[in-house]
Amino acid sequence: MGVHRIISLVREVPNLPATRAFYTEFGLHETSPGTFATQIGGEQLELRSGSEPRVAELNIGADAEADLDAIARRIEGLGISAERTGRGVEAVEPVTGVLVRISIAERLPKDPPPSAPTSVERTELVQRDPVRPQRLGHVAIGCTDVERAKRFFLDGIGMRLSDYVIGGPFMRFETDHHNVVLLPAPKTLLHHTAWKVRNVDEIGYGGSRMIENHPDRHAWGLGRHAASANYFWYLKDPAGAFSEYYYSEMDDLADTPFFWDPDPDGEELPVAAWASPALQDRPLVPEAMRAPILASGE
Ligand SMILES: [Fe+2]
Repeated sequence: MGVHRIISLVREVPNLPATRAFYTEFGLHETSPGTFATQIGGEQLELRSGSEPRVAELNIGADAEADLDAIARRIEGLGISAERTGRGVEAVEPVTGVLVRISIAERLPKDPPPSAPTSVERTELVQRDPVRPQRLGHVAIGCTDVERAKRFFLDGIGMRLSDYVIGGPFMRFETDHHNVVLLPAPKTLLHHTAWKVRNVDEIGYGGSRMIENHPDRHAWGLGRHAASANYFWYLKDPAGAFSEYYYSEMDDLADTPFFWDPDPDGEELPVAAWASPALQDRPLVPEAMRAPILASGE
């Protein structure tokens, strides 16, 4: 019982056609103009036209009506108004201004096991289908007061704290290391969305294809994060946020919410266990948030 997944993210972007084209090429399936589906997560991204890039809505799935009642009470207890609607509970997180909607949703099936060639036929390694992300794994949002904003997600929504990395809380619902990340920034912005693929090979193949004719899209990868142990490749989208192909064995190993209780006050981990050196000349921070992250020691 409880909250268990990100249903979807709604973004406003100033360059809608180019951003739609990016996410189509990235491997999401556009079911109607601006709405994109993953393989198992359903419609998980909605892009709308706006004058400035903005995170408009974050939709979160819960198991039961009782969960919605409890969440509404907890959010109200934080002094934030929460509206119980026919669709669930809605509240605006006050620091980021993001409308967070919690509604009842089916749990997703367990992630499929990593795919691999089934024979030694060399063609299996070069004949490729487009990479199709399985689901939206996490959303990282920059904001001016991560300590205040995290209370909404931890004490209101009922998420759990996994780690701090570059000054920001990494929070989870259940078995992923993180589903919502807050990072210090001078204003609210979308830092990145992360899309789970089936294995490391798909990260490399998908990232390579995305930058083949667009080297400016390359941000950072291939690498492996330290705190969450996931492999990654970050690409820059036309609206200024990053989009991450990722794969993690950790998510699949964890089958209870209590498999791992990290100490958020423990040793601070580096951002990456290893990675290509591209970070030096193209930092993984949008212009708007580079200063505070660099100031925190990265
Ligand atoms: Fe990420």
